[in-house]
Amino acid sequence: MTYPASNQTMPAGGILVRKLASAVLFLVAATAAAPSAEIGDPARGLAYARTDCSECHGVEPSDTLSPFSDLPTFREIANIPGMSELALISFFQTPHPTMPDFVVEGGAIRDLIAYFGTLRR
Ligand code: HEC
Repeated sequence: MTYPASNQTMPAGGILVRKLASAVLFLVAATAAAPSAEIGDPARGLAYARTDCSECHGVEPSDTLSPFSDLPTFREIANIPGMSELALISFFQTPHPTMPDFVVEGGAIRDLIAYFGTLRR
């Protein structure tokens, strides 16, 4: 089946697609910028860490050893030279090699990063 009018509607469709594409790009940019632009809540970060990370890592400010003693505590991680906000964000967005199901969602990333920030010496 052919649509004779399609030649006329194409330009409008093209503009709409471009508008949508730039709206999507804007959203992607806004989302990507969110973790560093918005400040998370360190207390929520600690609560999240207690639930989701403390099985393997020492997450309390006073922890000097992790449950798995060869793993770094969160204070140690926070003080690794070069462990910037960006390094943490990219770490949270790639799977832990040893933890295939490891996912940290957006809000929790901000909170965890805020918490890591309180552990820096
Ligand atoms: C089931 C155990 C386990 C849990 C739960 C776990 N981790 Fe890990 N984590 C590991 C292991 C093992 C490593 C080191 C090897 C690796 O990178 O996979 C690691 C490494 C890391 C590193 C990198 C440290 C470095 O030297 O680069 C960070 C950051 C980290 N974990 C954060 C977290 C956070 C945040 C949570 C909770 C949301 C968490 N982990 C939960 C086992 C765990």
